[in-house]
Amino acid sequence: MKVACLGGGPAGLYFAISMKLRDAAHDIVVYERNRPDDTFGWGVVLSDETLANLSANDPVSAEAIRKHFAYWDDIAVHYRGQRIVSTGHGFCGIGRKQLLILLQQRARELGVKLRFETEIESAAEFAKTHDLVIASDGLNSKVRNELASCFRPDTDVRKCKFVWLGTHQKFDDAFTFIFEETQHGWIWAHAYQFDSDTATFIIECSEATWDKFGFAAMTQDESIATCERIFAKYLGGHGLMSNARHLRGSGWLNFPRVLCERWSHENIVLMGDAAATAHFSIGSGTKLAMESAIAMADYLHSEPTMQAAFRKYEDARRSEVLRLQSAARNSLEWFENVERYLHLDPVQFNYSLLTRSQRISHENLRLRDKAWLEDAEAWFQRRADSNSPNVRRPMFAPFRLRDMTLKNRIVVSPMAQYKAIDGCPTDWHLVHYGERAKGGAGLVCIEMTCVSPEGRITPGCTGMYAPEHEAAWKRIVDFVHTETDAKICCQLGHSGAKGSTQLGWEEMDAPLKDGNWPVPSASEVPWSPRNQRPKAMDRADMDRVRDQFVAATQMADRTGFDMLELHCAHGYLLSSFITPLTNTRTDDYGGTLANRMRYPLEVFHAVRLVWPSGKPISVRISANDWVGEEGIEPEDAVQIARILQEAGVDICNVSAGQTSIRARPVYGRMFQTPFSDRIRNEAGMATMAVGNIYEPDHVNSILMAGRADLVCLARPHLADPYWTLHAAARLGDRGETWPAPYYQGRDQLYRLAESAGTMATSG
Ligand SMILES: Cc1cc2nc3c(=O)[nH]c(=O)nc-3n(C[C@H](O)[C@H](O)[C@H](O)COP(=O)(O)OP(=O)(O)OC[C@H]3O[C@@H](n4cnc5c(N)ncnc54)[C@H](O)[C@@H]3O)c2cc1C
Ligand SMILES: Cc1cc2nc3c(=O)[nH]c(=O)nc-3n(C[C@H](O)[C@H](O)[C@H](O)COP(=O)(O)O)c2cc1C
Repeated sequence: MKVACLGGGPAGLYFAISMKLRDAAHDIVVYERNRPDDTFGWGVVLSDETLANLSANDPVSAEAIRKHFAYWDDIAVHYRGQRIVSTGHGFCGIGRKQLLILLQQRARELGVKLRFETEIESAAEFAKTHDLVIASDGLNSKVRNELASCFRPDTDVRKCKFVWLGTHQKFDDAFTFIFEETQHGWIWAHAYQFDSDTATFIIECSEATWDKFGFAAMTQDESIATCERIFAKYLGGHGLMSNARHLRGSGWLNFPRVLCERWSHENIVLMGDAAATAHFSIGSGTKLAMESAIAMADYLHSEPTMQAAFRKYEDARRSEVLRLQSAARNSLEWFENVERYLHLDPVQFNYSLLTRSQRISHENLRLRDKAWLEDAEAWFQRRADSNSPNVRRPMFAPFRLRDMTLKNRIVVSPMAQYKAIDGCPTDWHLVHYGERAKGGAGLVCIEMTCVSPEGRITPGCTGMYAPEHEAAWKRIVDFVHTETDAKICCQLGHSGAKGSTQLGWEEMDAPLKDGNWPVPSASEVPWSPRNQRPKAMDRADMDRVRDQFVAATQMADRTGFDMLELHCAHGYLLSSFITPLTNTRTDDYGGTLANRMRYPLEVFHAVRLVWPSGKPISVRISANDWVGEEGIEPEDAVQIARILQEAGVDICNVSAGQTSIRARPVYGRMFQTPFSDRIRNEAGMATMAVGNIYEPDHVNSILMAGRADLVCLARPHLADPYWTLHAAARLGDRGETWPAPYYQGRDQLYRLAESAGTMATSG
């Protein structure tokens, strides 16, 4: 096969090597614009896992690379005058120049032809004269741009400014992050050794800080001198160096995240940075390039046709690229928003930094550095005023709101059961909530309980508007208080335009087949074309519904609920005022966010007046309508939270969506937690996180990183009412209380968990 690799970076060179190893008869030329030892960048990072992949592909070059590696196990974080070190992270670095020289040598040895100082302007001629053309011409790929209509690249230029520098100061004991506060804002460095006397020193800051320093108008030398002054105390008298003299101006860049819809066109295929980039803060660009090269070479030899090989390459590599890009996005967004976390205690800041890409879990950190994690856990428990003599995981720390103390951080999220009769909870509810309270969660929140018959979502929804409701709820609350140490929260709501609809397991949100009742809302905006047009509430409607909330609150207090939650999320009545998608009013209750919040706040203030001052109130919101700027976006949610906090709301339950049929949510593990994180750390308000959180590890990392104060689990509690006790048993935590009649079951479970643990460690 006659092959041209356009670009002699890691992708082009390693692909040429990999092809020659599979069939020495291939005729391969690598074209590179630079001279053999010209290069930008300093060191690149590879993991042990990547090196194992390289070894399996070509032990000779892998060994040469390995010999030049600088290894380090520790991560050190300088922040607010402290240097916190954790270990067990296992990285290795190599100079980019060294890597390229080794790859060039190996390629020559295998008979690859290398043509340096050859600028490629177009792939067209190569495509005619070669069987295969690899577009390995990097981030600013000319080939990708030339064929942009085929590859359809999507480039997202990120917010932070960064500059890639080197230094002879040693950072050989740890991968080092340095956060410095300056008169112009925070600026930080990522530093790591890559050979015996050189370290990479990437400096990054927000655009605002960069502007204030005036870097845009500086030459590279002026910019370097400024950076040397900022980081002088970490540089031990050494200077900073640039080897990107080819860049114009001060040498600072914005990172472009590139992804292409297609990776091949006829006989031309994109590889490495030309196809997709991954932010430097997870150090995976070179890994992606080299592993893609291996995959392409493999498929060209295993598949019947070149097109089949391209398809397989794209299928296999795209999912890997997306996985890494997702981790890279989490990581770069953490740095973009780092100012949000700069109030955190150094312990929590460090934890948040280490877990920023969401690739390292809580228990994985324990495997890396048990002592460090236990110190962090002890810090968390101290802050929670725990009097536990043992170090326990964050999920088992108490939490106090007003006079209510929860024994742990797990909340049974509100979930409609659709089993009420005329609004009255039944034995179903007694058993359902009783079981969940016995199951170990600190707080059980009951389903949206409606303040009037027409405020119900469905005919099966529970209510709090008749004396028999009060009596039935009292039976449930009494059971929870008498038989368990869980607290119980009453979620009150009114369905608004989403009311008069079918049971959850029928056709959800669809109108009743018969017997529909009229529904009110902020404006005359129906939930969907199939649902009835609601009445826009007038003052009398607003007063009446507010009073219904007050009456229901008084009943909830008499029944003994420990906490109240106002349901202002998911498109129901109070939510319909908040989101502009359903609030088109032109009076004082529509328009600006302050106006749209007015009615929910009136309700809140009215219920707060009659709810005992020792008992907390939370408000559940939809922090994202998932329709873009037309609706509520996470930054609006921060404003909403600020307004709620100022009004005296104790905690914000941060849900999202269900406010419009046009919503396009982006699902994933813990997908709504970033909204809670943002509210907690920008507005400084206590939060509950919810949404696809199902592992103890998720809960612990959310809490430990300060992304929420409480964690709600809904569906996991449908599948397992004893989620918390089971999690405690599996994790070896013996501090949770079981109901006395179940002690023997508990002991057996502990023994089984212990022997499974022993088997896991001995196996
Ligand atoms: C400033 C910077 C620092 C980085 N640091 C790291 C790091 O520490 N760790 C890490 O893993 N990754 C790092 N990366 C990413 C890493 O460089 C790339 O992800 C990786 O090198 C991708 O390999 P590649 O072969 O696809 O592209 P590149 O390494 O960019 O190679 C492309 C090659 O094509 C050549 N070329 C481009 N256009 C033409 C043309 N028209 N004609 C001829 N030749 C051409 C270029 O000169 C270059 O040699 C960094 C990237 C940048 C921009
Ligand atoms: C069957 C069911 C009923 C629900 N009912 C309510 C409800 O009454 N009030 C509410 O605020 N959220 C309700 N939710 C949403 C959950 O509280 C939670 O926010 C959502 O399910 C995401 O959490 P999860 O991924 O842990 O399931 C319901 C969810 C389910 C699955």
